[in-house]
Amino acid sequence: MLALEGVTKRFGGLTAVRAVDLRVERGELVGIIGPNGAGKTTLFNLIAGAQRPDEGRIVFDGADLAGRPPHAICRLGLTRTFQLVKPFGSLSVEDNVLVGALTRVPSVREARRAAVEVLETCGLGPFRDAPARTLPIGLRKRLEVARALATRPRLVLLDEVMAGLNPTELGRILELIRRLHADGLTLLVIEHIMAAMMRLAQRIVVLHHGEKIAEGPPAAVARDPRVVDAYLGEEFVLAQD
Ligand SMILES: Nc1ncnc2c1ncn2[C@@H]1O[C@H](COP(=O)(O)OP(=O)(O)OP(=O)(O)O)[C@@H](O)[C@H]1O
Ligand SMILES: [Mg+2]
Repeated sequence: MLALEGVTKRFGGLTAVRAVDLRVERGELVGIIGPNGAGKTTLFNLIAGAQRPDEGRIVFDGADLAGRPPHAICRLGLTRTFQLVKPFGSLSVEDNVLVGALTRVPSVREARRAAVEVLETCGLGPFRDAPARTLPIGLRKRLEVARALATRPRLVLLDEVMAGLNPTELGRILELIRRLHADGLTLLVIEHIMAAMMRLAQRIVVLHHGEKIAEGPPAAVARDPRVVDAYLGEEFVLAQD
């Protein structure tokens, strides 16, 4: 469904993403981990069209994404969330999701119906009239997911939607992601919370200094000496045993 070949992005002298190859098959849930500054969000920016790679190719469902702006890529069925959530603060929760739905449905009435459905899926029904800026972080993260879902994606890129959540909120969003995946959505998920990732992903890709240093099933990746060195630390490995 998604194929990256030799994707590279430089910011001046810094290579944020270096020759990354990555494939995501339809129906997969793939995790991306790596230390701060590893290039994870930059990779999402490149896939979603917010930034252009200096080298390499990105193909989604047979379409070369080169030169396509984010809204065109969204229309192809590929949507992302933002690590720093970006709701329209003064709009209601429902209207925020409506904006997403309007990318697909031209009639406001139909789009609103679609938005309400997505709000229910995401457990945001009771908050639909609240201004988005009044939501606590856990709900704002879910709103970010809802806005993405309203564009009816086939592939969603989630950038740290679990960061900063308490255990209850974390459990809820994990359950939501699992349900979306079970219903057929393909997901690429950036997450620092390794325990959550181990339970969620079928395959994990590890970035370090912009390079892909490991890839495989969660248990194998967690034991990979390069990953332990770069990211997890010995204590994590001991905790797994
Ligand atoms: N627009 C930009 N201009 C210059 N440098 C940038 C830009 N965006 C990112 N970088 C740099 O590229 C590197 C990768 O950043 P990126 O945000 O992709 O990392 P990340 O893996 O998402 O980190 P985190 O876990 O902290 O979110 C960092 O060194 C960052 O400072
Ligand atoms: Mg990031």
